[in-house]
Amino acid sequence: MSIFDTLTKIERDRTQDAYLEYVKGRDGVPDLAARSLKKREAYFAKVEAEAAKYQGDVPTAEFFAGMKSNRELKQMSELGQWMCCVARSNEGESFVIDMALADSDKRSRDLNDPITYVQLEEFYHTRMLLHSLDLLGVSDLRLSEPRGFGRTFLTLLARMPKDVSNVLALLGEVAGVVLFDALRDKGAELLDADDPVTAQILDMLDQLLIDEYGHMAFVRSRLGPVRMELVRKMAPKFIPRMYLDNRPAAALFSLRELTERALAMDLDFPPERIQARVFDAKAVMAPN
Ligand SMILES: [Fe+2]
Ligand SMILES: [Fe+2]
Repeated sequence: MSIFDTLTKIERDRTQDAYLEYVKGRDGVPDLAARSLKKREAYFAKVEAEAAKYQGDVPTAEFFAGMKSNRELKQMSELGQWMCCVARSNEGESFVIDMALADSDKRSRDLNDPITYVQLEEFYHTRMLLHSLDLLGVSDLRLSEPRGFGRTFLTLLARMPKDVSNVLALLGEVAGVVLFDALRDKGAELLDADDPVTAQILDMLDQLLIDEYGHMAFVRSRLGPVRMELVRKMAPKFIPRMYLDNRPAAALFSLRELTERALAMDLDFPPERIQARVFDAKAVMAPN
């Protein structure tokens, strides 16, 4: 079943209930003041306790050049491009979430609203990506904020009514699922398989992919037939534009392939190794 198919009202309600149960189980209790999730903190404590650093060669100078100037991206090694991509791929989401949280801090947040979990998960995404780079020897990196068209678009996204923004959010989540899947596989190809740090980095990217797949299924359940039709109309133009804005991704991957995979997104997408851990979007479909 395509992710762009419209769900019935019953399926949408069931998805939302099931997703809330799922994130409660996966994330543990949120601490709203600290902006943390219990199980995620436990995961991080474990990851950070293993203090080993990657032993292989890392193109650090290329990485910094690529972070400074998009023009450098084209002529550098794939590992350099990959690292830039890791550094920049959660920029957009983290920018939107920061803005949304700043706007809503005064209101009390709801522990029975999946959005609460989705937003807090984004902090861990940024943290996992930065920690991956740290393991490769790049520490003290600050994420830069999006610029240009991306920034304008994301600001609009954070501020517009949810009914409208969910259309764009779904497009963003679909694009994200494909990108993080590609990023994980590329990491497995480029990093030394015998180095234990590689397994740690790949596991963090899997965690991210598992989360994003859930976000996608959840956002989809918030859209009725009219807005789903809008999503279908916008996807072929909009998704490649989003990828184009992620310059390291555009240098490392084929935009056409990423876009094709995104447009073909369905509920069978999760690779076997993570299937047991992803949100089961199929289980909540009404039997016909
Ligand atoms: Fe994310
Ligand atoms: Fe997401």
